[in-house]
Amino acid sequence: MQFRPLIYLLLTFPSILSGADDEEVFTKSVVIFNTICAKCHEAECSGRMSFHMAYEESAKHIVRHYNEASGKLWMQKQLYLILNHMKERCAYYPMQAVIPPQRVWGSEILDKLSTFLEKNYFIPVGSFDRGEYQLALTLEEDAKVTIHMVSEEFDMVVEDCYLSKDRQIVIPFTIKETSHYYVRLYPHEPVSITQLVVTNKK
Ligand code: HEC
Repeated sequence: MQFRPLIYLLLTFPSILSGADDEEVFTKSVVIFNTICAKCHEAECSGRMSFHMAYEESAKHIVRHYNEASGKLWMQKQLYLILNHMKERCAYYPMQAVIPPQRVWGSEILDKLSTFLEKNYFIPVGSFDRGEYQLALTLEEDAKVTIHMVSEEFDMVVEDCYLSKDRQIVIPFTIKETSHYYVRLYPHEPVSITQLVVTNKK
């Protein structure tokens, strides 16, 4: 149980995580959590960590579900912090990612919001009012992709599997509750998303 004081230290002084590009690195961990770990830990709002798992055990658990975290203590710590945030605040960990003007995301931003191997994406797409919209994706090559669009309150407005045609996937969607939204992508084979565009249909 040596992990507990360490976590408190990290929560009190998040700057301990600092290093060059730490914001980008942390954002990657948020994306890993919100795609891979989210399959079980999303909207897990129990209030606080149970600490039932000893440090060794929880590190093993993390690596079992995300092998890339093997030997990367900093990544394991970040993922732990992010789960702690989900449990305590019942919310996604805040992301610094900017919403591009015209709501057109290119590879430069998208690459930072994807996991290394699986090419899972978790993209904050900003605030939407009630209305009719359209989400358009361009893929590097044709693929099947499971796509979620989820609000800050964990309500899904899009949740389906799509097969691209000429490297495009177009999804009309309806927003009934004004909120901040996120797009989550699980390509069935790793494939890069080169563009994401959200337009208002009115
Ligand atoms: C297949 C489901 C599943 C996946 C995927 C999963 N977990 Fe878990 N995790 C659990 C279960 C079940 C527990 C034990 C019950 C609990 O505390 O939530 C747990 C417990 C934990 C704990 C200890 C919780 C505490 O309160 O002390 C941590 C830390 C953790 N998981 C982190 C992660 C991270 C990080 C990932 C992603 C790399 C991940 N888990 C992926 C199911 C999963």
